[in-house]
Formats: sequence, structure tokens, C-alpha cells
Amino acid sequence: MSFDTVIRGGTLVTASERFRADIGIRDGRIAALAESLGPADRVIDAAGRLVMPGGIEAHCHIAQESANGMMTADDYRSGSVSAVHGGNSCIVPFAAQRKGMGVAETLDLYDSRAAGRSVIDWSYHLIISDPTEAVLAELPTAFARGVTSFKVFMTYPLMKLDDAQFLEILAVARAHGALTMVHAENDGMIAFMSERLLAGGHTAPRYHAPSHPALAEEEAVHRAISLARLVDAPLMIVHVSTPEGAALVQKARLAGAPVFGETCPQYLFLTREDLDRPGTEGAKYICSPPLRDAATQDALWRHLQAGTFTVFSSDHAPYRHDETGKLKHGPEASFRQIANGMPGIALRLPLLFSEGVNGGRITPEQFVALSSTNAARLYGMLPRKGTLAIGADADIAVWDPALTRRVAAADQHDAMDYTPFEGRALTGWPVTVLSRGVPVLEDGAFCAPEGHGRFVARDRLDLTGLGAPRAPEVDPASNFGAEILR
Ligand code: URP
Ligand code: ZN
Ligand code: ZN
Ligand code: ZN
Repeated sequence: MSFDTVIRGGTLVTASERFRADIGIRDGRIAALAESLGPADRVIDAAGRLVMPGGIEAHCHIAQESANGMMTADDYRSGSVSAVHGGNSCIVPFAAQRKGMGVAETLDLYDSRAAGRSVIDWSYHLIISDPTEAVLAELPTAFARGVTSFKVFMTYPLMKLDDAQFLEILAVARAHGALTMVHAENDGMIAFMSERLLAGGHTAPRYHAPSHPALAEEEAVHRAISLARLVDAPLMIVHVSTPEGAALVQKARLAGAPVFGETCPQYLFLTREDLDRPGTEGAKYICSPPLRDAATQDALWRHLQAGTFTVFSSDHAPYRHDETGKLKHGPEASFRQIANGMPGIALRLPLLFSEGVNGGRITPEQFVALSSTNAARLYGMLPRKGTLAIGADADIAVWDPALTRRVAAADQHDAMDYTPFEGRALTGWPVTVLSRGVPVLEDGAFCAPEGHGRFVARDRLDLTGLGAPRAPEVDPASNFGAEILR
């Protein structure tokens, strides 16, 4: 039996185990796992390397007009190329509805931005900013197209929904087996703090942190979870930045509610002191929720170890450090005027591997779960993506666990002019990445065929094993439950 490609001599890692095996690939899929395989047209020598499912980057902003209306620096080509350099073989950016746009119209727009551009497979989470009756009625067409998750915002003037709108969306999601993701920060607290700080002349980037207090996250996470539990809907709290937020996710899970959490490298590797850098440097570190402190970093690592967080994502939101991005309103702009977000799609996994696996904090299996398998399961792509199994897409990353490299902006291969992680020495890097069996990175060199990526239609969320005790007020068996849970 012959293969298109055999990956020989590596140590395979899945979310549950590590073992020595060769992988045989045929027609873009994993056809065999065995002690020794061959012959093959192409042999990849993986001796001394870890062979893992390619990363799935499930939170990144690409070719998207963000909450402030500014276009991200990366489009689907540069964003996906950068993702490949970071060991990813699949991305799930956002398709953002602008006010007045329909669901199909939004997805068509993003298809036109992604198709022929993305070098690896992609899907979208749909951002809903304008949930009119017509838009709610149209949402099932997104699910039919394989877009089975969406994101809503509790803050940002152009995006935020009120609690009643949020409940309407949660109810539709529940009825269709979709997953709602939420940016949970209390908008009123942020507006109040920002106005007082600005009125007092506190305009520098460092004041971005107190303008988005930890309490604003805690309050909004609690409210979001309460709203989801009222209608028995699954919920993902994205970019959790505080131990208080993480503890609420953990508490909800212990109560049996299908509530999930995500955190991001910036909250583990940077602090609000980075906002204090001289000149306009602090602007590079403005993101929301904001960077916190060293005690928060430690607490979030412990939540990562303990399984509170289901996924670990970059929240890559690239705005250049020039007049097209962070400095659009000039070098003296207040923290309120500076675009929120930082790049990191190529560093999410090297950071987690270096400090997590090589740092002795998590196992390689946890690394695979956090970087790929859990996102595949939660977002409806398992077992096609996110694991090393017979029949799965041959989306595979071969890592050199001992390679040390220093981070430099030029090596990100994105459209950015900085990286917030500049100069850090990291150990453990992807060397070869396959997308459906096709090399997209080989010995560290990018080699994807143009427009190689394909749209991935995702399944609905499988909540088996996560069943929530229903909120008694909305028991469908009650005489009014049917009206509420339509
Ligand atoms: O500051 C951030 N995170 N910008 C990206 C948009 C978002 O809220 O995720
Ligand atoms: Zn967000
Ligand atoms: Zn984001
Ligand atoms: Zn390179």
C-alpha cells in the first residue's frame, strides 16, 4: 500500500496521548497510523520531533472592520500566511455584520475577502451588531451554510447589544444548536471611567487599563452567564483576562451549565506596565480587555492548567503602529482614540509551547487540546480537524521542541510593523505544516500554493455530556415554556 506522503519517525501527540508512529497520508487525509509505513512519494523525516494536529486559530480578526470601524492590516492572505508560520492549519476569523446588513450579505462579503486568498482552511464566527427581527429570522441560513457560532459585544458603541437583544440571540442559538460567543465588559463602567480620566487630563495609553477595570469584566461575565442560563443556551466567554472572570466560568461549569472560556497570550505574557512604555510605544499594547498584572498572569496559568479554559486563542487584531492604525489620530491621541487590539497569530503556539510545555506548566497533550482539539470540538470540526486519526484531514504540524529562536517582527510574515513580543527567546517552533496533506511550511520556509485554503462548513455544537439543569422558569414542560423557548 503506497501513500502520497509519510511522516516518519516522529512522536505523535493528541489531546489524550503521546506515541511513536508513522503517519501515512493519501488524498489529503490520514490513511494510516502504524509503527512503520512506506513507500511514499514524499517522506518527511520527523525523528526527534513532535507531530501534532495543526493549530486551529479560533479567535482572530482578518480583513475585518472592527469595533472602531478601522480595517485590520491583515487580509486573508497575509493573515493566513502568518498563521502558518505559527503552526496553524485552520483559522476561524470573524465575519462582522455592520448595522443595516443582512446575514447572507455579510457572509457573502467575507467569502469574497477569503476565497482564493486564504492559504489554509477557514470558517467564520458571525458577529451580530444589529439583531433586527429580519436578521434574527435570517440567522438559520448561517447555520445552514456551516457558520454555527456567533459573537456579540456588551461594549463598544458601534457593536454593543442590550440584555434583551442578547437574550433573543441566545434563544435562537439554543433552538438551532449554535454557540454564542461574547465580549463581556460592562460598557457603562468603561464610559464612566474613561470620561472621568479624560476630563482629568489622563489621556496617555497607560490609562486604558483603569478605564477598563477588572470589575467591568467580572460584572459582564456574571451577567452574560446569567442570561445564557435563563434560556439554557451554551455560551463562550472570549478573551477572559481576570481570575474573577475565570472563576465565574468554572462555577457555571460546576453548576452544569454549558459555559466555556477562552484566554489569550497577552494576558499571560504582558502586563499593564507595557502601556507605560515611552513615546507612542504604549499604544502598541492597547487591547480590550486590557493587560493586567503579574498576579493575574499566575492565576490565569493555573486556570489553564486546571482546565477552566477550553481554548487558547491569539485574538490577533492587527493595527499598524503608524497613521493607518494605532497612530491614526496622531501621537498625542488619547487612549480612547487608539485602535484596540494587538497582533500575535504566529506566536500564540510558540509562546504556549515555550512557557507552557517547555516551562513545565502543561503537558504536550494539554498543548494539543488547547491549541487545536478543543476548538475543533467546540466549533463543530471534530474529527475532520483537530486530531490525528484515520480519515481526518491531514492538517499536521511537525514541531522541533528544542529549537530556540528570538521573536522579531520581520519573522511574523503578517502585514504588521511590530510585535508586542519582540526580542523574547522562545524554545519550540513548528518546522513543517501540512494542510490537507499539502506542505504549506517546510523546514521553516513558507511554500503553500496560492489560495490553497477552502471554506469549512462546520457542524452544530454537540452538548452531549454537558447537559445543563434547565432554569425552572423556562421549563418547556411548563404552560408557558414553549412561548419562551421558541
Ligand atoms: O482589543 C481587542 N481585543 N480587539 C479586537 C476586538 C475584540 O474585542 O476582540
Ligand atoms: Zn472582543
Ligand atoms: Zn477579538
Ligand atoms: Zn519565515
